Amino acid sequence: MLEEEIHAFENIFKSKEYIFFTIYENDTQRPIGNTFLSDIDYKNRTAEFNIVIGEKEFRGKGYGTEAALLVLDYALNIVGLHNLFLKVFEFNKSAIRAYEKAGFIICGSRRQSHYIGGRYWDIIFMEALATEFKG
Ligand SMILES: CC(C)(COP(=O)(O)OP(=O)(O)OC[C@H]1O[C@@H](n2cnc3c(N)ncnc32)[C@H](O)[C@@H]1OP(=O)(O)O)[C@@H](O)C(=O)NCCC(=O)NCCS
Repeated sequence: MLEEEIHAFENIFKSKEYIFFTIYENDTQRPIGNTFLSDIDYKNRTAEFNIVIGEKEFRGKGYGTEAALLVLDYALNIVGLHNLFLKVFEFNKSAIRAYEKAGFIICGSRRQSHYIGGRYWDIIFMEALATEFKG
């Protein structure tokens, strides 16, 4: 039901466990994707990072890296979080590269835990610490 979905989204947007951002192309102010922090834990100062450049023609142009960098900076230096975490499939090379350029490092994996295209793939874990971030 549409109304239930809208209600669910409204509750998520109100929740302190999430912070949402829309990513715009500077020149046209066109919205091209979104990025958000989820599972924010203010006691342990941790959160999970998520991003999608929804408009495919805007992928591979540096927007993902820049958005990740800005959210890292905001989360670690403004919100005061200490550890940001993310999960990414091992075949998503452009995402892993963008996250590394922004300041995330690989900290582990769950091997062969995602089945797609007739084979198992690892899920890669990445993290960024406030004490190591040089945004
Ligand atoms: C993942 C995503 C956010 C990355 O954002 P983006 O704007 O496309 O990425 P950027 O242009 O900033 O950086 C991509 C980097 O990966 C590199 N790259 C692309 N394909 C690659 C490949 N097959 N192997 C290695 N590196 C690759 C690019 O060359 C670039 O690095 P460089 O600047 O050093 O040359 C975006 O592509 C996206 O939304 N994809 C679909 C949704 C998704 O996968 N979300 C993430 C789920 S974890």
